[in-house]
Amino acid sequence: MLPKKIDAGVLGTGFYVPDRVLTNSDLEKMVDTSDAWIVERTGIHERRLAPDETPVSELAFQAAKRALADAGTSPEELDLIIVATLTADCVCPSAASILQDRLGAKHAAAFDLSAACSGFVYASSVAAQFIATGVYRRILVIGAETLSKYVDWEDRNTCVLFGDGAGAAVYGPVEEGYGIRAFDLGSDGSGADLLGIPASGSRHMITEEIIRQRLNRIHMAGQEVFRFAVRAMPATLLRSLERAGLSPADIDWFIPHQANIRIIQAAAKRLAIPPEKFIINIGKYGNVSAASIPMALAEAAGEGRFHKGDIVALAGFGAGLTWASCIMKWAKED
Ligand code: ACO
Repeated sequence: MLPKKIDAGVLGTGFYVPDRVLTNSDLEKMVDTSDAWIVERTGIHERRLAPDETPVSELAFQAAKRALADAGTSPEELDLIIVATLTADCVCPSAASILQDRLGAKHAAAFDLSAACSGFVYASSVAAQFIATGVYRRILVIGAETLSKYVDWEDRNTCVLFGDGAGAAVYGPVEEGYGIRAFDLGSDGSGADLLGIPASGSRHMITEEIIRQRLNRIHMAGQEVFRFAVRAMPATLLRSLERAGLSPADIDWFIPHQANIRIIQAAAKRLAIPPEKFIINIGKYGNVSAASIPMALAEAAGEGRFHKGDIVALAGFGAGLTWASCIMKWAKED
């Protein structure tokens, strides 16, 4: 007989952003753009940038400390650390291993997870499996990015969009019927060329020619990704809701990936979810890829917006192409 499934939920959250703010008017001095264009087309007013010498594991560390304190969990209690990122300190070793040492999480396994902007939801669903089977009891899941290091600061199509930051959640067993109720993960690799950093791995060695062509920087077919996103985000959310036996009307809080306010508005229209149920912080932080959703989750939790029993929905999409959503019944006491 299979062991009884244990429900997994968020025990604590935290987020961290670097101090340096890059405003739209700063960008006006760097490329041919305007505050009005950026706000109207994206909803972004400013974003944060990490110092050159700061790796992603440092942002993850700061967010992790806050989440552990919020959860009342010590680093020694952690069984597993998963860092969702596309901007790890290096290809090898993982940012999660570096973070494990930095935290002093002596008993934790550690690995990175690569699913771009969908990464935190992917990682949360992995954590839920280990907790459901009783294998692990305390799992730290982090979305962290230093995208500013890969942005082409001469390309106005992309440089206005991205920012740096980290968001973290500690998952553990929760009361029966609470925590992650359902999730949906997906990928369509036929869209792999639409968004990514072409020369960042084993396909292209970094040569002067690669640097001249700026292939070590973020490239994106913005309109194609936009079209994909407005279909994919509502579709994945509806699949998760169906698996949870719920409908859009049951959602108390919806945290979409913060890529573009127009994508979020299109999703709101398709799903008929009222705007006051959306948690949106894109204006302050821009698109922080895997960190966007956990930053918004931690910020809203820190403001005391969630109450025990609330239905909190997360949905992301991004490079891969990938998409992911999950439905949680908030388990934490106020
Ligand atoms: N300032 C001023 N003008 C600009 C800028 C800018 N920063 N960027 C582009 N333009 C111009 C273009 O050159 C174009 O000019 P043209 O008509 O003379 O050719 C015009 O504005 C319109 O360009 P579009 O690309 O059609 O602009 P659009 O409204 O599609 O907005 C954007 C572009 C914001 C990139 C949008 O397509 C988008 O948000 N796409 C989705 C991005 C996304 O969701 N990524 C998520 C995943 S991220 C991840 O996984 C890491």
